[in-house]
Amino acid sequence: MKKRVLVLTGGGDCPGLNAVIRAIVKRANQQKDWEVVGSINAFDGVLNEPNEVVVLDDKKVAGIHVNGGTIIGTTNKGGPLAWPVRDSQGNWSTVDRSDELIRRLQYLGVDAVINIGGDGSQRISQVLFEKGLNIIGVPKTIDNDLSSTDYTFGFQTAVEVATDAVDKLVTTAASHNRVLILEVMGRYAGWIALHSAIAGGAEVCLLPEIPYDIHKVYEKLQRRINKGRGFAIIVIAEGAKPKDGIFSYQDNDEVGYQNKKLGGAGNRLMEDLKQFDLGVDIRITNLGHIQRGGSPCAFDRVLATQFGVAAFEMILDGKFGHMVAYEHTNIVAVPIKEAIEKYHYVDLSSQLIKTARGLDMSLGD
Ligand code: F6P
Repeated sequence: MKKRVLVLTGGGDCPGLNAVIRAIVKRANQQKDWEVVGSINAFDGVLNEPNEVVVLDDKKVAGIHVNGGTIIGTTNKGGPLAWPVRDSQGNWSTVDRSDELIRRLQYLGVDAVINIGGDGSQRISQVLFEKGLNIIGVPKTIDNDLSSTDYTFGFQTAVEVATDAVDKLVTTAASHNRVLILEVMGRYAGWIALHSAIAGGAEVCLLPEIPYDIHKVYEKLQRRINKGRGFAIIVIAEGAKPKDGIFSYQDNDEVGYQNKKLGGAGNRLMEDLKQFDLGVDIRITNLGHIQRGGSPCAFDRVLATQFGVAAFEMILDGKFGHMVAYEHTNIVAVPIKEAIEKYHYVDLSSQLIKTARGLDMSLGD
């Protein structure tokens, strides 16, 4: 009987997931004694009754590296450590099904698991590893907020999308003499905002890492706008917050959703700027999930493919409890425990921040 590796994609999707899956299958097929199966919608496929676990062969993965999304589905709700259950009164609570998950994997003949996901998913990987599961992590997220890897795949594609949005906003802002605000994703890290602001040439970039002073933002805009003439582009990260304020989020009653649902930072900024008499109109564009969709750019395809091949080889080497990572052009293995220990913020003393300041871009401080 062949050995089995089970692959799953967890958390929010991002471009490049399919390229990882394809690379795992192709590399595994070189070993005659291994086969790959996929769990539908993260670990739900293993935990659901009947289970939803599908064989992933060459035919299933042919050509999928160019496609966004994930052919095996994903979810950012629930999971084995906090599975939502409803009591007879209709109240929701959560139960830990991790021991049951490990038993089910044994029953399915699974020898190793590759968990492709962000920080939340890798936290689950670590718990399962500590319970004895042979598990490897692959870091994904457009937010680039996972530590121990220079980049996650999906990030560059999101930056391309956000930069394209800035370019488009520039032409309409210039025509109308307007201040246009672009809100981008990134959770508590400003990577997408900072990269797209530099690439697109925005005048202001507001990051979660630097709580902004609205007066400083106004001063920058005032220098650009003279008697109702002139324009400016502001890129704001969804996790940005004013000095002495908190980040903007929306209430969310979706069952099993444990993250804060960020959003509204751009709107708040627009309303706050209206108190000043700039003499031009201000509009807001929220880029939203467009950043997560579509075909991965070449960089992300290459990174995702490298991660996929390396993840399978880490199984052959028995490097369980490790995550593949990108380190100065090399693909390395790092303990999952280390990767989830700290959040990957933009370093305020980095060359990237110095570059932004060198362009006279306002960072709101
Ligand atoms: O983590 C990726 C991400 O796209 C964040 O940037 C964003 O805050 C969040 O997911 C949105 O998640 P959802 O898919 O639940 O709207």
